[in-house]
Amino acid sequence: MPPIIEISGLRKTYRRSFRQPHHALDGLDLEVAAGQVHGFLGPNGSGKTTTLRALLGLIRVDGGTMRVFGEEVPHRLPQVVSRIGAVVESPQFFKHFSGRLTLQLLAESAGLPKERVEAVLEQVGLREAAKASVKGYSLGMRQRLAVAQALLKQPQLLILDEPANGLDPAGIHHMRELLQWLAHEQGVTVVVSSHLLSEVQQLCDSMTIVSRGRRIVDGSVADIIAGHSGASLSVRVPDAGALPEAAEALKTAKAGVGAVVERDRLVVTGAPEPAWVTQTLAESGIYLSELVTQTKNLESVFLELTGTAPQPGQTVQIGQSVAVPQAAAQSAPAGAPIEAPVNAAPESGPEAEEAQR
Ligand SMILES: Nc1ncnc2c1ncn2[C@@H]1O[C@H](COP(=O)(O)OP(=O)(O)OP(=O)(O)O)[C@@H](O)[C@H]1O
Ligand SMILES: [Mg+2]
Repeated sequence: MPPIIEISGLRKTYRRSFRQPHHALDGLDLEVAAGQVHGFLGPNGSGKTTTLRALLGLIRVDGGTMRVFGEEVPHRLPQVVSRIGAVVESPQFFKHFSGRLTLQLLAESAGLPKERVEAVLEQVGLREAAKASVKGYSLGMRQRLAVAQALLKQPQLLILDEPANGLDPAGIHHMRELLQWLAHEQGVTVVVSSHLLSEVQQLCDSMTIVSRGRRIVDGSVADIIAGHSGASLSVRVPDAGALPEAAEALKTAKAGVGAVVERDRLVVTGAPEPAWVTQTLAESGIYLSELVTQTKNLESVFLELTGTAPQPGQTVQIGQSVAVPQAAAQSAPAGAPIEAPVNAAPESGPEAEEAQR
């Protein structure tokens, strides 16, 4: 099946008086396959919202091609727009209307049956609050109402820019279940942009990582993590004095295996599997007291990948590394919590300038 979204070489330059033009999108490519939750992940200012706005015909781009459902957009957008639900701009609601009335009016104007309103209120978890006026809604409730609005027409493609914004942990959990249900049970293709790594890791089947308006890597979330995991094994033996001998035994047993003594443990890389380490050391008369597999989380992969933007036209293949600048490497300690947003400095634009001041 052809991709639902195909973007190639997208360019958008903001020209600012007396200053260098700013390339918000610098030849960005994006492909999204049908029926999955696809994460569009990148640091602040990397071009996610710009891409989604371009796709929906909200801004004009300077170059590149975009197809949705095989139709060239924005030219053929009218032909496919009825199949797309999106929350990209923060929608403005009439604050004196209730959530239910807001949706009823929207459904009516789009010629949709009334039952859709109750269905979407239930789906986004707003049924209890449906009678209250939007004026009293929290940020998270407004976000749910926006998603409800996008779901009214039962879209085949749902595009959400930072859907976790403003949601509490229970809300995020609920949203995740809803989006996965839509994709996996209803066949809806869901695209979510995010800079929340843990969210993408838990929510998405596949993802595209962007940095400075370019695609850095794409693929299944599992493959991207595995391809960049550089999994290593931490080995302890009852007598730490035997570690150098253990290192030697492993390195001579197989070419490509690395073994480095780090204080009271041995860090082994390139071993075919943990059982091989156990067996090889036992054959040398060394018995293990501990063996732990250490894998990187998505945060370290993300920082590694977005730490350095690739050259124009370069897409990093799974398994290929990108040089990690010192600062990025230092900000990704092993086992760092991944719930927090990546507070990598904004890449460019107003926020970056703010940060530099
Ligand atoms: N209207 C505009 N005028 C000038 N520059 C803009 C405009 N809109 C976006 N930009 C710049 O384009 C770049 C990409 O912005 P964009 O909003 O697409 O980033 P993003 O990946 O969505 O970031 P975030 O994670 O913060 O939402 C930024 O440097 C931003 O400052
Ligand atoms: Mg954005």
